Amino acid sequence: MNEKTWDALKRSATDARANAYAPYSRFSVGAAIQTESGRVFIGCNVENASYGATICAERAALAAAVAAGERRFVALAIASEASAPIPPCGICRQCLAELGTNLSIRSYAGDAEVEYQLSALLPDPFGREQLD
Ligand code: THU
Repeated sequence: MNEKTWDALKRSATDARANAYAPYSRFSVGAAIQTESGRVFIGCNVENASYGATICAERAALAAAVAAGERRFVALAIASEASAPIPPCGICRQCLAELGTNLSIRSYAGDAEVEYQLSALLPDPFGREQLD
């Protein structure tokens, strides 16, 4: 991932945030995930009156990519309007880790940006090996 590619991914995540459905928290999040082959899939948070049914932006992007047949990802951008860039929640970490923890994540808020590696955010994920 070069800087130009990250800039484009940030733009996709920021655009997706505009479609967030967050009438309860009023906390809009957008995400964009990039596949190994260079395709980009977006997601936004979709809240529900049954609060626990809410889908985060990151999982929405992941689901869109998987539905399109993608399984291999290299980068994820997250865009929010929080006072500082947000890390992905624990449920999203677990869901992303299902398809590999070798994933670079950048989170953006205003002019600030933070980079994470999924392998560091979730060092010992529960995975399919545990089901054997
Ligand atoms: N949210 C996300 O979409 N991604 C995150 O990484 C953290 C939280 C959403 C869920 C909920 O709609 C709102 O932000 C407040 O938690």
